Amino acid sequence: EWSMEDFMVQEIARIRSLVGEKDQVLGAVSGGVDSTVAAALMKEAIGDRFHAVLVDNGVMRLNECAIVKETLEGHLGINLTVANGTEQFLSGLKGVTEPEAKRKFIGGKFIDMFEAEAEKIEVGAAKDAGKVKWFLQGTLYPDVIESISFKGPSATIKTHHNVGGLPKRMTEGQGLKLIEPLRELFKDEVRDLGRKLGINHELVMRHPFPGPGIAIRILGEVTPERVEIARKADHIFISMIREAGLYDQISQAFAALDPSKAVGVMGDKRVYQYIIILRAVQTTDFMTAKAFPFPFDFLDQVSTRIVNEVDGVCRVVYDCTSKPPGTIELE
Ligand code: XMP
Repeated sequence: EWSMEDFMVQEIARIRSLVGEKDQVLGAVSGGVDSTVAAALMKEAIGDRFHAVLVDNGVMRLNECAIVKETLEGHLGINLTVANGTEQFLSGLKGVTEPEAKRKFIGGKFIDMFEAEAEKIEVGAAKDAGKVKWFLQGTLYPDVIESISFKGPSATIKTHHNVGGLPKRMTEGQGLKLIEPLRELFKDEVRDLGRKLGINHELVMRHPFPGPGIAIRILGEVTPERVEIARKADHIFISMIREAGLYDQISQAFAALDPSKAVGVMGDKRVYQYIIILRAVQTTDFMTAKAFPFPFDFLDQVSTRIVNEVDGVCRVVYDCTSKPPGTIELE
């Protein structure tokens, strides 16, 4: 009989024998469930010979970078380097409006920054330390299946840069060997493993967040002003979902920003400001999804708070499109 406890013990043993006594392992973390669980497992197996790198791409959620740092370093004791790329990412996104162009730019820049960090880690390692020979990826079983079976046009609907992209250049280009301890697990099993590794409930149940972050939740051009607005609106929406006890019933939720402007009245003045689009879906496989049926009062309260608290927004709408024909993200 198979148990998560056995899996964990075996996987830790397998990692130790694979990596040996001195080799170092490198991994990108995002604050998401998969990369965090993979990192925690690695830490358990080889301690400080695992180096996690978080690239702040400037389009993460409000306070996210600080929260990830606190969780990984503070709570899990993982060796973490944060690379701040806000400036580079946001200036590179200037004038880029097309969704795939945003993904391509963010994916490419991410690899550049990650590689630059990786080199520093090797240089900085202690004299008797082994080389960085391994690259950790939090690939799950569904990711494996998806990349095998989607050879048709569906593969090009959106390029999900966390599946593919990074490892090829790191592995083939730099001779790093790929290590994927979660590749036989489904999401709920990864959550189970996370709990066994002592990761808190909130993190283990976290909704997925796309690599290109808020950049694909701002329709059209990404500007620092729009990022700030989208962040604040998203933070209000997600906090209210948590307070209402609905977070674990929803598979993914966020606020997106529509840069076309709408007219409103605030106080006794006419305003002309952005529209926020709320999206929340329920799904088991993320291939199909239904909009979450919030009680109207809840949406009303969220809308009121966003318009009152976020400068630059005068309308809030709820997206009730299913997938298909909609996708979960708006871009
Ligand atoms: P869609 O919008 O295709 O989203 O229905 C399905 C799931 O994939 C996530 N997603 C992404 N994740 N990079 C990622 O890492 C991306 O470019 C990307 N695009 C979509 C989305 O958040 C949802 O969970």
